[in-house]
Amino acid sequence: MSIPIGNSGKTTLEVAREAAKLAGKLAKERFEGEKGIRFKRPGDVVTDVDTEAEALIFALIQQEFPDHTLVGEESASDVRADEGYAWIVDPVDGTRNYSVGLPIYSTVVGLALDGEVLVGVNYDPERDDLFEAQRGGGAYLNGKPIHVSKKTEIKDCIIGFDLPYSDVGARYELDMLAQAVWPNMGTVRSIGSSALGISYAAAGKTDMYFQHRLSPWDMVAGILLVEEAGGVITDRNGNRATLYSDGIIASNPSLHEEFLRLTEGADWRLPAM
Ligand code: IPD
Ligand code: CA
Ligand code: CA
Repeated sequence: MSIPIGNSGKTTLEVAREAAKLAGKLAKERFEGEKGIRFKRPGDVVTDVDTEAEALIFALIQQEFPDHTLVGEESASDVRADEGYAWIVDPVDGTRNYSVGLPIYSTVVGLALDGEVLVGVNYDPERDDLFEAQRGGGAYLNGKPIHVSKKTEIKDCIIGFDLPYSDVGARYELDMLAQAVWPNMGTVRSIGSSALGISYAAAGKTDMYFQHRLSPWDMVAGILLVEEAGGVITDRNGNRATLYSDGIIASNPSLHEEFLRLTEGADWRLPAM
């Protein structure tokens, strides 16, 4: 699969990195100050920083790759990312955290070709943590290779997750945890940034991450990071994750298999509006 070079001669990974850092820098500079905040729907907030950061990223990518499709949560969420070269951007993932001053958020930039993710970057400006991967080239955190957890049993695990916006999906997650997983597990962490949640599972900081329903910009970097870090990332039924997967489970192969077994027949497998 050929990974394109930008107009200035920069590699795709260099452009993705630069774009994510540019937006992350803006978000960090504005973290303490007043932000314009509005609710898109109950529980789903957006700030003026999200919109400005996405515009910055789009401008940079457009300069380098004028023919590529741009998909972004704030200004191009209806554009499909599964045909040709498509850049997929979440300018601030974890906006609910960001809007109240919780320093757990990140910027996601990825490139897919016909829906297959080629490059993915997730940048946490508060810790200056850069998670990145290129297909076939491994996954890295701040330049060092990362790998998924080596744990083999859910009883020893830290499981990351987040509640989806759908009340039905959230109920399915909580019931599934209470009825199928707890108390034979280590503990859980609701992170507030699914992109960081998946990246932490890729880096083996947590042992697993799940969410009932995410969007392409939440998952684009994570899908590649987990696969390149030796993990398995699928939808709720165990099918290999795509940008349009219905839900996500990310872990190492043996924990993933145990989780699928435990959750077989649970309502969590059902879609929710
Ligand atoms: C949200 C976060 C959250 C997840 C939501 C996402 P946003 O993204 O990743 O953890 O539970 O489903 O929409 O709105 O902060 O970019
Ligand atoms: Ca997001
Ligand atoms: Ca966002």
